[in-house]
Amino acid sequence: MENHPAFKPGNVAVITGAADGIGLAAAQCFSGYGMHVLMADIEAEKLDTVAAEIRSAKVFKDNQIVTHTLNVSQLGQVIELKKFAFETFGQVDVLMNNAGTSRKTSSWSELDDWRHLIEVNLWGIIHGVHAFTDAMIAQASPGLIINTGSKQGITNPPGNPAYNVSKAGVKAATESLQHALRNTNDCQVSAHLLVPGYTYTGLTKRHVSEKPAGAWLPRQVVDYMVEAINRGRFYIICPDNEVSSAEDARRILWAAGDLAYNRTALSRWDETFADDFANFKVD
Ligand SMILES: NC(=O)c1ccc[n+]([C@@H]2O[C@H](COP(=O)([O-])OP(=O)(O)OC[C@H]3O[C@@H](n4cnc5c(N)ncnc54)[C@H](O)[C@@H]3O)[C@@H](O)[C@H]2O)c1
Repeated sequence: MENHPAFKPGNVAVITGAADGIGLAAAQCFSGYGMHVLMADIEAEKLDTVAAEIRSAKVFKDNQIVTHTLNVSQLGQVIELKKFAFETFGQVDVLMNNAGTSRKTSSWSELDDWRHLIEVNLWGIIHGVHAFTDAMIAQASPGLIINTGSKQGITNPPGNPAYNVSKAGVKAATESLQHALRNTNDCQVSAHLLVPGYTYTGLTKRHVSEKPAGAWLPRQVVDYMVEAINRGRFYIICPDNEVSSAEDARRILWAAGDLAYNRTALSRWDETFADDFANFKVD
């Protein structure tokens, strides 16, 4: 299958959260297509190190790998990123709003951590969309805005409510964005919601010393993402080595059933519904 026209040599990708994990794997992948890559992250030193590695491994001679340090939760800094991207390259064809973080939260405490997670994970994406979308549409060429969400923003598992809220917001914002883009005259930009499964990255390494068998590597997520975009998909819900796409569909439909059938909230984690959930089948 041919790549989406945005993924072509000489085109430009801007990736936030590019110093590690999924963003770094995307930078490696896009560089491999001969694209210029602007890698943005809050971790300046790490960013420089990994960008130098990509430069030295580069197959194409003409594509540039440049870096920019920013905090995506600060609108002014994201607007600076957009200015830097257009001053450097004159165009942006792929914007990947991917920077994200996690902290432990519970429903009625850790207010500062709630605020931090929503500012980075949700406002970071709102800022990216706000700063880049008009200019990308005005380019009048095929473009992609990819926002990284999470299954936790869809099925809302107990354990980290602030993270779930931030990622539920990413889902809603990205769905609305895609609806608005497809109703904008002469717009060649589309939005996509990337939902990684369990992936072995900086975010998840903190809790385990080596890659768990169930986890995917970041490059698997990026390869799955590119293929889904090439097929024209909006929702890119990645499986992993433990959870299949069919199991994801079952969990999503069960969660929607809580609302449709007026079950208790998060019934999947309520003993009363354990047998019903275990026996729930999706055609
Ligand atoms: N790893 C998983 O299992 C998993 C699952 C679902 C969703 N995700 C999402 O994938 C995205 C990428 O995460 P990852 O797993 O590759 O983790 P990661 O920690 O390896 O990469 C995230 C990057 O974002 C950067 N970052 C954090 N806060 C920032 C800020 N305020 N401004 C700019 N950069 C910032 C970090 O420095 C880091 O380099 C995140 O949005 C995360 O929520 C990850």
